[in-house]
Amino acid sequence: MSDLLIEKYMAKTPRSRALYQRARETFPSGVTHDTRYLMPYPLSVARAQGGRKWDVDGCEYVDYFGGHGALILGHNHPEVTEAVREQLSRGTHYGASHELELEWAEQIIRMVPCADKVRFTSSGTEASLLGLRVARAFQNKSKILRFTTNFHGWHDQVAFGASTSFDGTPPSGITEDHVENAVLCEPNNIDQVTRALDSRDDIAAVILEPTGASFGRVPTQGEFLRQLRAVTREYGVLLIFDEVITGFRVAPGGAQEYYGVTPDLALFAKIVAGGFPGGAIAGRADLLDVMTYRDDASWNDRYRVPHQGTFNSNPVSARAGLTTLKIVAEDEITERANQNGEVLRNALNDVIQRRGLNWLVYGEFSGFHFLPLSGDQTYTCSDIYDGTVPHSVLKGGISMKQIHQLRCGLIAEGVDVMPWPGGVISAVHSDADIDQTAQAFDRVLEAFKA
Ligand SMILES: Cc1ncc(COP(=O)(O)O)c(C=O)c1O
Repeated sequence: MSDLLIEKYMAKTPRSRALYQRARETFPSGVTHDTRYLMPYPLSVARAQGGRKWDVDGCEYVDYFGGHGALILGHNHPEVTEAVREQLSRGTHYGASHELELEWAEQIIRMVPCADKVRFTSSGTEASLLGLRVARAFQNKSKILRFTTNFHGWHDQVAFGASTSFDGTPPSGITEDHVENAVLCEPNNIDQVTRALDSRDDIAAVILEPTGASFGRVPTQGEFLRQLRAVTREYGVLLIFDEVITGFRVAPGGAQEYYGVTPDLALFAKIVAGGFPGGAIAGRADLLDVMTYRDDASWNDRYRVPHQGTFNSNPVSARAGLTTLKIVAEDEITERANQNGEVLRNALNDVIQRRGLNWLVYGEFSGFHFLPLSGDQTYTCSDIYDGTVPHSVLKGGISMKQIHQLRCGLIAEGVDVMPWPGGVISAVHSDADIDQTAQAFDRVLEAFKA
């Protein structure tokens, strides 16, 4: 059955296949980001607009990759495109401070509750690197407490226990000292966090994705955030929200605004730069001031936190980011995206129910997650939210082969999703996009059922 889906995918995408033959000679696995890896070969895309994109064979797709979550306004929002076009004619890199970066940061400070001060980076991984460095320097402590399944970028300090090796074993290339500096806890287990904070005094900060790993694949809810805020305050430990996905998506001020829980520091990327490369840390002024030069050579040399980066707050990303954030602040964008998410999840679950299959589609806000269950698993969506379903089932529980079959099947039917498996929906996806997705999913399930 599912071979039929793969065959249909291959019949539809010969040019993607031909490009892959070249790409695999050049890139490991033929891709430039692990998330784009797909067997028998990845889709090659030629252009995109709104909630849709077109591959190199000219086939059209409803897009739920959304620029890896960066595009809450969809592809090529006219105001963002125009602003960037205008900026290109004024220069792409001044090697100097500029007013745009200031306006961009001031916009973040207006929108994000924890943001007294901001520093820009070039990606979410860099924001995570800098955020952890700032936290360690401020606290003069070495350890970071984080949660298995939560992803904070691909740098060595966090690239284990997140997407693979959930037992905390470092993958090849990552040294033991990084493992020693991480205290890994289970998501949503406040007792385990409290015990860790109570039993040691070397933890600088607790970091998490505030709606749970991979935008709620392993969901976390407000109560856990409130408990974390209380316990970190009690033990004098910093609380960091990784809002790289949730920032400017869950609500204009991110998950911290939605849940009314203010962390000490937050990490941003994706939407913050309006679909262009960029990231930021934002938080308490006294924290970010560990980067401030003083009239004191020994402070500057020994204690100050250094931070460089050629493309930090480059004018093109600044313009795209500022334009996007203003639209998000003024136009009920997050409400629309969240509403689209709910309509899509309901439509997909209706299809599952009609077909009587043991699958679930769940998620919150503008995210959705597919969960194909095996015969003896009788979970419901509410089991996922009350913690009954083990994390190992939610993240890492579906084989790569199954994910690739589902993805190829959906692509064959005109829909592109992320390998969570699931995706994000934008504010500009239409009812027609959602209807088409439900019909495509129905045909894929028919093939799976057969
Ligand atoms: C929650 C989270 N943190 C950090 C990152 C890393 O961001 P980037 O890919 O911009 O390095 C990601 C990327 O997907 C993410 O989802």
